[in-house]
Amino acid sequence: MTHQIPGTMLLDPQVIDDPYPFYRRLHAEAPVWQVPGAGVFTVSTFELVAEAVGRVDAFSSNMKNLLYRDDAGLPARFHFGDAGGQALATADPPLHAIHRGAVFPELVAKRMNELEPDIVELADELVTAALKVGTVEFMTVIGNIVPMTMISRLIGFRDSNLDELWNSAVNGTRMLGSTLSFDELIEIATSGDSVRAWIADQLCAARKDPGEDLLGAVARSVNDDVVSEHEGMTILTTLLSAGGETTTSLLGNAVRILADNPELQEHLRQNPGQIPTFAEEALRLESPFRYLMRSVPEDTTLGSVEIPADSTVLLLWGAANRDAAEFERPDEIDLGRRVPRRHVAFGRGIHTCVGAPLARLEARIVLTILLQRTTNITLEPQHRPSWVTSLLVRRHLELPVRLHVR
Ligand code: HEM
Repeated sequence: MTHQIPGTMLLDPQVIDDPYPFYRRLHAEAPVWQVPGAGVFTVSTFELVAEAVGRVDAFSSNMKNLLYRDDAGLPARFHFGDAGGQALATADPPLHAIHRGAVFPELVAKRMNELEPDIVELADELVTAALKVGTVEFMTVIGNIVPMTMISRLIGFRDSNLDELWNSAVNGTRMLGSTLSFDELIEIATSGDSVRAWIADQLCAARKDPGEDLLGAVARSVNDDVVSEHEGMTILTTLLSAGGETTTSLLGNAVRILADNPELQEHLRQNPGQIPTFAEEALRLESPFRYLMRSVPEDTTLGSVEIPADSTVLLLWGAANRDAAEFERPDEIDLGRRVPRRHVAFGRGIHTCVGAPLARLEARIVLTILLQRTTNITLEPQHRPSWVTSLLVRRHLELPVRLHVR
């Protein structure tokens, strides 16, 4: 298929702010698109994303590059080869199953449900404080706080400083944001991270006396030589990054959709049982991770496009979730979809998100409490919402809202 999509579109700040017209163009013109001259391919249709995640030999999770924006506005690759090592999200079989086995039992829905009273208490406290003020920046007062607090507790970190953990998590995802200049990327990649040293101390202490939490599970796996200490550390930092910022994004995106749609708010206040379905639609429409990366060890093809060895492939979850070939009226909220969870916001295949039950629980609780305790949630007219400029995360940087107390 011939197409002339300019390579600069991928990282254009305006396209990042509103990527959906670009995704539609990719669906129509280049479901597998080679960004001109970059060694980078995007995959945008539901069918081809699903195929790629199933072919784990051809599309490896073992990342070997980061992307940055070059002076011409094009994506360029910073190759670090095997320096990153493989750990859980970046591991391929057979190692991946070992890493997943170390954390998965701690994250199943049944275990997550035990956290419900804690999440309710925290959400209630934050919503009560926000209602007293009325007009608030949602991300600062609620959205950023609930997921980071819960993931830190769930891991079992002792005496954590949530601001520092948040900054470290966001720095991690900024490296995958693909919008930094080369110098900015290198600065972040090489800067010493005090939080990593702090996590190393937590792991060291847990190895002496492993508790019944995620930290304890990882410590036991290290003690038993099931995973190396370096892998254990990377698994913990991945949990922190992946567990904090993504759910934060979901909470903000869901509140933004509600603030833009008073009738939907009212419908959900009358039918709170549909809030989980609404959360699935929010995940589909504004997928918190827009893409994740795969490496190509050998020449392959996808959707009749030849992809040479050493290419970097971006699986665009956010685009696949708006694919009209898969979803009727893909740009609309529809609480009546036959299978509401049939989206790829949590990925698909062997790397499907292990934290989905926790994210779903947090979203249900926060949205239920917010809707119960307000008559309306509106955008603050003086101060427009803004998005983080990242190819990776779809997160509100600021979401000023007015909460109308019931
Ligand atoms: C709305 C919230 C979330 C979204 C949208 C999300 C999204 C994703 C996606 C798309 C993947 C697939 C990665 C791939 O195929 O390369 C993934 C994997 C993963 N997520 Fe989540 N995630 C969320 C919440 C969480 C939470 C709360 C945790 C931690 C408790 C978590 C931990 C992980 C881990 C460790 C993986 C790697 C799993 C593996 O490789 O087997 N995520 N997530």
